[in-house]
Amino acid sequence: MTTYKILIGGKWVSSGSGETFPSLNPATEQILGRFQSGDQNDINLAVSAAEQAFDEWNSLPAPKRGQILLRAASLLKESKEALAKLVSTEMGKVLPEARGDVQEAIDITEYMAGEGRRLFGHTTSSELRDKFCMTIRRPIGVCGLITPWNFPIAIPAWKLMPALICGNTVVLKPASDTPLCAIKFLEILQKAGLPPGVLNLVTGSGEQAGLPLVKHKSVRCISFTGSRDTGLQITKEAGIKKIGLELGGKNGIIVLEDADLNLAIDGVIWGGYGTTGQRCTAASRVIVQQSIKERFEKLLSQKVSKLRLGSGLDPKTDVGPLINKKAIEKTQAYVDIGQKEGAKLLYGGNPLKGKGFFHHPTLFTNVTYDMRIAQEEIFGPVVCIISVKDLAEAIEAINSVEYGLSSSIYTSSIRSAFKAIEGIEAGLTYVNSSTIGSEAHLPFGGVKQTGSGREAGILGIDEFSETKTVYFDYSGKLQKAQIDTG
Ligand code: UN1
Repeated sequence: MTTYKILIGGKWVSSGSGETFPSLNPATEQILGRFQSGDQNDINLAVSAAEQAFDEWNSLPAPKRGQILLRAASLLKESKEALAKLVSTEMGKVLPEARGDVQEAIDITEYMAGEGRRLFGHTTSSELRDKFCMTIRRPIGVCGLITPWNFPIAIPAWKLMPALICGNTVVLKPASDTPLCAIKFLEILQKAGLPPGVLNLVTGSGEQAGLPLVKHKSVRCISFTGSRDTGLQITKEAGIKKIGLELGGKNGIIVLEDADLNLAIDGVIWGGYGTTGQRCTAASRVIVQQSIKERFEKLLSQKVSKLRLGSGLDPKTDVGPLINKKAIEKTQAYVDIGQKEGAKLLYGGNPLKGKGFFHHPTLFTNVTYDMRIAQEEIFGPVVCIISVKDLAEAIEAINSVEYGLSSSIYTSSIRSAFKAIEGIEAGLTYVNSSTIGSEAHLPFGGVKQTGSGREAGILGIDEFSETKTVYFDYSGKLQKAQIDTG
């Protein structure tokens, strides 16, 4: 059994805590290795290594930082299959999705490498003569990145690459369910030539390692993807820092009577049961127009019943395991809640007996939008059908939750599509495609309780840089702005 280390100042070292924790394969419950239980002391060392590396990294011209990122992208391509197998083994998702996870990381790395030759500010005119005005981007400083297990390569990359290209140095605290993915990913980035201390990694629990990172006075920025409760705790503990939060979702797909029904059903299957429902963008609610409800239910349950549950590494599998035992218990608790609330179970509803954390894809109908199963994030393979009379009610239903990440509408009416785009409160709206699958060069993030900030695309650069406004007076005399001489 290998015991893996943490990365501080370019060296893989043991935690001062002397303690370790295991990571399991969720399909077999086999232990994949042991990992350092990092604590306050390790975080302090990692942050000071990042502080020491900051000046040199920040003064390296951004296109040169971009070249390192490009090297990282090409090494990631070489390791894509091995990394994808590891993602599938440690996180459980099916191999084609695991390849997608790694590909998202490659895409964002290439995109952000290119940003090294842009990092645009803007110029504008001045109120006064002989004065030049512009904005430039400056790094923020040491960034603390806290990442989830559901995209164990892509999400760290979505945070790391913009942070690095902007000239920041980083301490990464990955989820305790997928530390091996983070370690293998960082080994590749190290090989690409990142100077020691630019990128540090501390594994460990949220309480012991995450919290000290959030509270650390020298950390200027925290970027977190995970649960709403942890996000809320971060806002209370971080003090005055730049904070990016990408929290939960309770995303809905609207299916109108004029939709291509088969296309919509494929979208629901993909959004609801892809990644075993473990995406913050997962389609956990389907809001169907009353007139097509029965047909829709029948067709959808037929397709759900054909989904094959199994190990993500088995090419025949459609739906892999949940991440851990707690996730099975949570899904089960919500199945019970749904039944008690009076929803009708159309398919699934129970876990699989034996080894591994498997739960049958589950479909509820006759759900009303105030039920807990329609309001709270389950993060499992549970889809709720809610029926409404028209588009206006569908938009009301979709907006009835406290989250606002992704959304979708299936319709053949351009008018309905645009009404939905305007009316839905969410960071993302898809038309005639599912709620999942954002692209690296477009912004990603949500409104309401889903959090703040946007990742990826050009807004991902805003997230990890500070804008400095520069006034350059070449008049040679004292000029006074905002003075009204009459
Ligand atoms: C998440 O689940 O935390 O658009 C993010 C998507 C993925 C991102 C999911 N690229 O579904």
